[in-house]
Amino acid sequence: MRATIAGCGGYLPETRLSNDELAALHGLETSDAWIRERTGIGFRHMAAPDQTASDLGAAAARDALARAGVAAEEVDAILVATSTPDSAFPATAVRIQAKIGATKGFAFDMAAACTGFVYALGVADSLIRAGQARCVLVIGTEVYSRILDWTDRGTCVLFGDGAGAVLLRAEENGGTREDRGILSCHLHADGRFGDILHVEGGAGSNGGAGLLRMSGKEVFRHAVTKLASVVDEALAANDMSHADVRWLVPHQANLRIIEAMGRKLHLPAERVVVTVDRHANTSAASIPLALAEACGDGRIGPGDLVVMEAIGGGLTWGAALARF
Ligand code: ACO
Repeated sequence: MRATIAGCGGYLPETRLSNDELAALHGLETSDAWIRERTGIGFRHMAAPDQTASDLGAAAARDALARAGVAAEEVDAILVATSTPDSAFPATAVRIQAKIGATKGFAFDMAAACTGFVYALGVADSLIRAGQARCVLVIGTEVYSRILDWTDRGTCVLFGDGAGAVLLRAEENGGTREDRGILSCHLHADGRFGDILHVEGGAGSNGGAGLLRMSGKEVFRHAVTKLASVVDEALAANDMSHADVRWLVPHQANLRIIEAMGRKLHLPAERVVVTVDRHANTSAASIPLALAEACGDGRIGPGDLVVMEAIGGGLTWGAALARF
C-alpha cells in the first residue's frame, strides 16, 4: 500500500504586516533592510486575537479536502504538527476533527517544532503502509505570534502565523503510477541541542513566560550540515541523485539556508519553492503552505519528484521524498 497525495491546502490569517509595520507596532529597533538581508523576510501574517491553531488548521484542512474532492466524513485519521496547540488537551487534531465535521477514526498532535510536518508525514505514511488508515489529513498549524517575545528583535521578526494541510490516500501501488506517492521519510533528533531553540515554561518547569528563545547562529550552523546530510540520505535510500529532483520544498526559516540547499541539489532558483519572503517562518505549517501554493498555481504537477526538508527545535530534522 502506498500513500498518495490527493490534495494540498493552506490558510493564512487576513492581517499581513510588512517589516516596517511590525517594527512600528512593537517599537522595535530594526529595519526592513536588516531583516531582508539576513533572512529574506518581507511580510508575515498574524492571527486575529480570537483565532487559534485549530481555527487555522481547520481552514487549511477544508481547503485540502476541497482540492482533493473528498468529503470530511471519509477522513479516518488526522495528524497535527504544532508547537502552539489551543491547549494541552483535547489535542488540536481532535478540535479540528470536530470543526471540519469528521467523526471516523482517530486524531492526535505531534510536537517536533519546525520539523513537525515532516514527522507527521512520516507517521501518516507508516499508518497507511501498515493498513491502519486509508484517508489521512496531515496538518501543520501555528500561531507563533502567541509565543514570541516582542522585546527580542533577534527572534520576533522571524515568524508568522498560518496553516497548511495535505490529504493522503491509500492506493495500491500508488494508483495510476507505480512510483507515485510518498517514497520515503527520514527522521532524526538530537536532544543534546535542545537549549539552542526552545520555548521556556510549561508544566515541567518552574515558571517562564512561555516564550521562544533561540541562539540564531548555532541553529544556522546545524541547519545547513544536517539538512544536506538528510537529503543525501533520502536520495540514496531511493537510488536517486539530485538530477532526479524536480522541486525542492524546504522548511521556510531563512532564505540563506534555503538557497544553500538549492545549490546543494544543483537546482536553479526557479525549482525551489520560496514563501519565506511573504509568510516568514510559520514553523510546522511552512512546508504544507508552500506545497499548497506550488500545487495551486500549477508549478508542481503529476509525476514531479519533490524533496521536502526541515530542521527545528529539539533539535529535530528530517526529509521526505514524494512523487506527485
Ligand atoms: N534588527 C536589527 N538588528 C538586529 C536584529 C534585528 N531584527 N536582530 C539582531 N540584531 C543585531 C544583534 O543585536 C547584533 O547586534 P550587535 O552586533 O550590536 O550585538 C547583530 O544584529 C548581529 O546579531 P546576530 O544574532 O549575530 O545576527 P545573525 O547574523 O546571526 O542573524 C539570524 C540572526 C537571522 C537569526 C541568523 O542567525 C539566522 O538566520 N539563524 C538561523 C536560525 C533561523 O533561521 N531560525 C529560525 C527558527 S529555527 C528554524 O526554523 C529552523
